[in-house]
Amino acid sequence: MNTYARNTIRAMSGYVPGEQPKDRRYVKLNTNENPYPPSAAVAAALHGFDAARLRLYPDPDACELRNLAAGQAGLTPDWILCGNGSDDLLTIAVRTFVDQGGTLAHTDPSYSLYPVLARLQGANATAVPLDAEFNLPPDAASRAAGATLLLVARPNAPTGNTFPLDSMHTLCRHFSGIVWIDEAYVDFADDDCLAFVRQYPNVVVSRTFSKSYSLAGLRLGLAYAPPALVSEMVKVKDSYNVSMLTQAVGLAALSDREAMRANAARIRATRDRVSGDLAALGFRVLPSQANFIFCQPPVAADVYAAGLRREGILIRYFPGPRTGAFVRITIGTDEEMAQLLAATRRLLGR
Ligand SMILES: Cc1ncc(COP(=O)(O)O)c(C=O)c1O
Repeated sequence: MNTYARNTIRAMSGYVPGEQPKDRRYVKLNTNENPYPPSAAVAAALHGFDAARLRLYPDPDACELRNLAAGQAGLTPDWILCGNGSDDLLTIAVRTFVDQGGTLAHTDPSYSLYPVLARLQGANATAVPLDAEFNLPPDAASRAAGATLLLVARPNAPTGNTFPLDSMHTLCRHFSGIVWIDEAYVDFADDDCLAFVRQYPNVVVSRTFSKSYSLAGLRLGLAYAPPALVSEMVKVKDSYNVSMLTQAVGLAALSDREAMRANAARIRATRDRVSGDLAALGFRVLPSQANFIFCQPPVAADVYAAGLRREGILIRYFPGPRTGAFVRITIGTDEEMAQLLAATRRLLGR
């Protein structure tokens, strides 16, 4: 075994992304991708892109993209930071706000990348447990005390529920470090926390183009934060962290938010219908505000997930004391969800 890597790196397991199978065609409901294509404006931007432009480096400040995003949010561009997906923004956050040997806090269960980022930074991770219904506990801020960064996904992943706005206000008011609100799934939800960034000096909101904009393969995320925080994060990011092509396509996507909203509305309608169908089959279905459903099958969850895989359908199973009785099912097209329900009925013998 080589011993060249840092001790921390050798001792840790890396983050394992959801499966992207190459061996056969599955109905892919395992990584919260969007089943519908991005807006026609995106395809036009790609087709119209002049390859000769790639000779030069991209704009390190992604000015056009930040201008547009800022205008849409009623902010100025110094409130925006672009990332190579929101994972890049999360890495920048940890490197900016958490010292080596320091502490990062995250709600639990939540996005499993969060504690991995702490380890990469040589920092500690404090898990703030959600309550029995996967809600934010009233004492979340004090449980996270001592950490300099608290990561909260809202809507949460993998549970899909959201936290009441007043509990988020309490958290932001009482936590002394940065509260990073990861809004990867916000376009499928009823409300959002973007206004918080103007109300609190310690709040950052991040969003992604991977879900509602159908652009997981592009890699683009946006963080909204007070300029004093953005200017510190700019020091940490790679100079050219968002490619020229990504900036051009992202601009087109952001210019056509109507297409995104129509796409998200379609997914929400499917989600609500399938939630009812699964409940009728005996599943315990958590109320979802995301593009996936977290639910407890009437049989062992890992057995159910394995059964679906044999039927050619991939969903996600997270072993562990809090999540092991549940599965997470991404919302696909209506046809894909009909296949899921048919396979589920076969597996349950209904
Ligand atoms: C809560 C949460 N945040 C961030 C991400 C990553 O998003 P991106 O594709 O923008 O890196 C995901 C992806 O599944 C997620 O579930």
